[in-house]
Amino acid sequence: MRIDKLLANRGYGSRKEVKKLLKSGIVKVNNKPVKDGSAHFNPTEDTVTIHGEVIEYKEFIYLMLNKPPGVISATEDSMHETVIDILELDDAVYNPFPVGRLDKDTEGLLLITNDGGLTHQLLSPKKHVPKTYFAVIEGEVTTDDVMSFHEGVVLDDGYKTMPAKLVIQKSGLTSDIEVTIMEGKFHQVKRMFESVGKRVIYLKRLSMGPLQLDESLELGEYRELTNEELELLKNHH
Ligand code: URA
Repeated sequence: MRIDKLLANRGYGSRKEVKKLLKSGIVKVNNKPVKDGSAHFNPTEDTVTIHGEVIEYKEFIYLMLNKPPGVISATEDSMHETVIDILELDDAVYNPFPVGRLDKDTEGLLLITNDGGLTHQLLSPKKHVPKTYFAVIEGEVTTDDVMSFHEGVVLDDGYKTMPAKLVIQKSGLTSDIEVTIMEGKFHQVKRMFESVGKRVIYLKRLSMGPLQLDESLELGEYRELTNEELELLKNHH
């Protein structure tokens, strides 16, 4: 692999900036300065350093974000801040994108990656990857609603959802629930509650397939997936 490609991959700036960096002689391969960007190195055998710090190449990045409300799940938007805008430059250089969408006001687990293959697997309607949400509902959620969700409810556009698991945690003027859905229709959880005459007033995603939200992440914070989480995701069918 070319040394200038590695530096661009790791966010060391524009082509011009990378060239300048190389020219200064601080980039070393196996401890020898390399000034020519077209020079090749072997990512598995050679050690590339800048000021002694090892620069490793990676093709893919996998981030778990605790999405804050008010930002949209897109890569670009002319009006609003996106989940990509809140990433650090070191991560944004990988051109990652959100895996699926959470509404602007929805919080919680959002996977952000540049791995198109994994994204496709997770979003494919055929795969029925379960997604669990915590929600606060205006009004009293009842066991009738649990049964309706279990059978599948008809949305405003006539679509009948697959069975969903609804668990009531607290029921009253407002109710706390957890719901697990196997699909990802537009505004699905909100529309499912609308179909039983209720309104979602707070929504947070807790899990997607085997991936659970790390509750130690504050809203707007993110971290790379652990190897274990990544393996679980990749092996999930
Ligand atoms: N269902 C919704 O209604 N909104 C979301 O953001 C996710 C699921």
